[in-house]
Amino acid sequence: MKIEIITTGDSSKTLHLPALNEQYHSKHGALTEANHVYIQKGLEHLIESDSKSPSLTVFELGFGTGMNAMLTAVKMTERGHEVCNYVTVEPHLLSSAHYTVFENESWASPELYLTMHQAAVGEWTAITPFFNLLKLDTTFESFTTDLRFDLIYYDAFGPRVQPELWEPWALEKCAGLLSEHGTWVSYCAKGTVRRGLEAAGLSVERLPGPPGKREMLRAEKTK
Ligand SMILES: C[S@@+](CC[C@H](N)C(=O)[O-])C[C@H]1O[C@@H](n2cnc3c(N)ncnc32)[C@H](O)[C@@H]1O
Repeated sequence: MKIEIITTGDSSKTLHLPALNEQYHSKHGALTEANHVYIQKGLEHLIESDSKSPSLTVFELGFGTGMNAMLTAVKMTERGHEVCNYVTVEPHLLSSAHYTVFENESWASPELYLTMHQAAVGEWTAITPFFNLLKLDTTFESFTTDLRFDLIYYDAFGPRVQPELWEPWALEKCAGLLSEHGTWVSYCAKGTVRRGLEAAGLSVERLPGPPGKREMLRAEKTK
């Protein structure tokens, strides 16, 4: 599928798929969205609420450009406290022609960024002493694991493009992957998704979204 590179509203770049008329991140600001949804409302929220744990497990649907993984690795390494074990699934791993476009972006420490993209698929790789990465070349539909996650970054393409990944079965699968008190975050604020998360037994909050989106969702396992 043809992939184009576009510059978003905060000057950070993302990938655009003309055939689907879909982007990897918000056109209003890729970096702003990733920081707001996944880092501030997800990772920082988790760390603030459970700062005593020596390690945390994160699952990301869609490794894509590696932006969420990179921002998480930098945050964990700056903190220098908990070790983050980060599992991500991606059935369309980018070629170097596409991921190297981002290596000199403000958020991508070039050495760490390339180490992440070049890490062997299917093997744990220590990216820093505080961030271990397991990239899997598979779909969310096929993903199985015995691990349970403290935090899920649900970063599928939107419901218009990938409706199946926002259906009740997918949200129930997420609930099953969460550890006790685990947290799920996504940029998506659709009512059917919120109700699907509630039906899966999670407590759902509507939070202010990043630029261009009034709301986003955060869900927690409370029972
Ligand atoms: C919105 S983009 C996510 C961007 C990514 N998190 C980043 O930081 O660049 C959606 C990602 O999900 C991947 N994807 C598409 N179908 C998938 C599936 N069935 N299971 C898992 N990932 C999928 C896409 O290839 C793409 O990388």
